[in-house]
Amino acid sequence: MITGILKETGNENRVAILPGEAAALKKIGIEVLVEYHAGEKSFAYDKDYEAVGAAMAERKDVISRATLLLTVNPPVDDDIKSFREGQILCTVLNPVENKVWIEKARMQGLTVLALDLVPRITRAQSMDILSSMATVSGYKAVLEAASLLPRFFPMFMSAAGTIKPAKVLILGAGVAGLQSIAIARKLGAVVEVFDVRSAVREEVKSLGGKFIEVEGAREDAAAGGYAVEQTAEFKKKQQELIQQRAIAADVVIATAMIPGKKAPVLIMKETVSLMKPGSVIVDLAAATGGNCELTQDGKTVVVNGVRIIGRSDYPSDMPADASKMFGSNIINLLKIMVDKNGNIVPDMADEIVNGTTAVHGKEYISQRIKQMLDIKQTA
Ligand code: NAI
Repeated sequence: MITGILKETGNENRVAILPGEAAALKKIGIEVLVEYHAGEKSFAYDKDYEAVGAAMAERKDVISRATLLLTVNPPVDDDIKSFREGQILCTVLNPVENKVWIEKARMQGLTVLALDLVPRITRAQSMDILSSMATVSGYKAVLEAASLLPRFFPMFMSAAGTIKPAKVLILGAGVAGLQSIAIARKLGAVVEVFDVRSAVREEVKSLGGKFIEVEGAREDAAAGGYAVEQTAEFKKKQQELIQQRAIAADVVIATAMIPGKKAPVLIMKETVSLMKPGSVIVDLAAATGGNCELTQDGKTVVVNGVRIIGRSDYPSDMPADASKMFGSNIINLLKIMVDKNGNIVPDMADEIVNGTTAVHGKEYISQRIKQMLDIKQTA
């Protein structure tokens, strides 16, 4: 089977497969055909792909010859006309944003594997692109905040006097939040953390953060380890407590999200007006509305001397390692789908394959995509 790697469009710097991962694909019997210059923004050049036995081609040839196409973001509209029935596309789908695109792909008879729908179960951990990218985001968010803060992160005892350590407040202790705690602690900051899931308390503590408990959080075992929406009473109590901590903080890293819903608003305008001038908020929930009332997605705004950075695309800023993790996750997913000859034979009875398949045979397959897009059809 030939797998095609397409060059990303727009501002995306990542590539789905780097040369190292192309070599790993070849080891499981998959031929790799790469669009010219696909890896350049991730510092992987055509000669590097060729050195591991991958072939290079024009975009239209990659699309026409490959059985399976791998991309970071769904290929633009023009490409979809050149895809053929039965072809398989594996990408980060963002189903709600790309509802029209996915419907076109379904009607055309493509199989779309959505990397953002990989079930969050133990067996699928090594395939979990959302976790890998959240790791990058949590790391970059702290580094950016540290470089913009007009103060030190660590405590310093110098001849010029003692400098107190920075206070970092982290909202949401999922994958990105936990990574942020670890990095902020390594840089010497004092870290406080809010989350609605009590299960993360011990993890926060073991990373050296202080978990701030708000009583009365709703937790739902059926939500698969994810957060659920909270009551109005809880939200009010939580906002008050967050305000107290944010006023004392130098940096806030906001990562709180609820899958398929708007992000909870945890930092109100009023809180920002009370924060210390010079402090920094990095809002990783920007794409789904942000945890701060003043966040603007893709922009930095300064209010009352507080810099509010709305970023949901840090992985593209660290394309070498982000692409490496991305490719490894894809390979782990493909390993459960290819036979010993390197041909893809997806078993729709497998929980991971079924959960990840957005459309196949002109039907919506994954239950999650049906819920997200409110599809009534029962495939
Ligand atoms: P996420 O990106 O959906 O949310 C980030 C964090 O925000 C979560 O910890 C959530 O509890 C928190 N949050 C939501 N609303 C909040 C509020 N109002 N106030 C404060 N915090 C709030 O989460 P992510 O990083 O995708 O992972 C969530 C969980 O999913 C993990 O901790 C784990 O249990 C599970 N997971 C399982 C995996 C697997 O088994 N393959 C892989 C990754 C995650």
